[in-house]
Amino acid sequence: MSKFPPRVFSGVQPTGNLHLGNYLGAIVRFVEMQSTHDCIYCVVDMHAITVPASVWGGPKALRQNTREVTAAFLAAGIDPVKSIVFNQSQVSVHGELTWVFNCVARLGWLNRMIQFKEKAGKDRENASIGLYDYPVLMAADILAYFATHVPVGEDQKQHLELTRDIAIKFNNDFAESIAENGYGDAFFPVTEPLITGPATRVMSLRDGTKKMSKSDPSDYSRINLTDDADTIAQKFRKAKTDPEPLPSEMEGLKQRPEADNLVGIYAGLSGRSKSDVLREYGGAQFSAFKPALADLAVEMLAPVAGEMRRLLADPGYIDGVLNDGAGRARAIAEKTMDGVRDVVGFVHKT
Ligand code: TRP
Repeated sequence: MSKFPPRVFSGVQPTGNLHLGNYLGAIVRFVEMQSTHDCIYCVVDMHAITVPASVWGGPKALRQNTREVTAAFLAAGIDPVKSIVFNQSQVSVHGELTWVFNCVARLGWLNRMIQFKEKAGKDRENASIGLYDYPVLMAADILAYFATHVPVGEDQKQHLELTRDIAIKFNNDFAESIAENGYGDAFFPVTEPLITGPATRVMSLRDGTKKMSKSDPSDYSRINLTDDADTIAQKFRKAKTDPEPLPSEMEGLKQRPEADNLVGIYAGLSGRSKSDVLREYGGAQFSAFKPALADLAVEMLAPVAGEMRRLLADPGYIDGVLNDGAGRARAIAEKTMDGVRDVVGFVHKT
């Protein structure tokens, strides 16, 4: 496997309403990984349109949300010179490689995808074919760049396994041709998921057992990246808790999902461990902890929100970043695709 140098790829859908969960669970991790890895971060606009337009918001919203995710990446500290930042639809290989993978993946594999069942709901006949094919497009995203590591949330674990299955089956199905074309015994790497641990999973402020989500009908369930200081303070004040004071040890957070979540958010925002936070706040009432948490959140998020606003005022700059990133991404992905053409037997221009 060593012939594949370490490379990180991850994607975020431009579906609007970026919140603290996206920030702590994904974007902050993306920023950190830049110091150890060669990183590619993609705004997956082609994935966004797999659900009905009433959900993704239509063309104007898609453009705005694509720029918003890009602005959040940059504001949080993703360096678009060191890393590659681009939107998926600008690199046509994502679609082309999906077709080849459609012919490798089996119906039985896709029929087992939990997220399709959840998103399609009861009216499966009316789901788009794109929604069904979503995990295959995701495999193409990753493998077009021979990515070896993919940071994602727990909910994407099954999709990552499908990516691995597709890579393995492609390597097997075309083993002879792969060798003949000089690619040795594997064309694609078998990608490792880097699953976001529970420490960085942010739950709803109204129900500590549910993920913080943009689709929760209550805006009080989440902190949006664009919320102002007053809104942030008010949302934490109203956050669901239990009547007990905070425990001094991790053990005491068991069976207390809301307390666990707020301590986790404090830890995530301050870059400390939960046990460290409990050492400071053990014994404190929520009436004291919540304002401290709100202050910390405002202190950490206000500069990000401010920078996002500044960047979004200049969409030409953001589009320039995406353009440049797409050019660099295309150079890698086209080379992969030419290799796939050779391996599969597609005659192509040289
Ligand atoms: N499905 C991912 C999500 O909703 C987004 C995504 C698309 C992605 N392509 C990807 C994540 C490739 C990692 C790698 O979170």
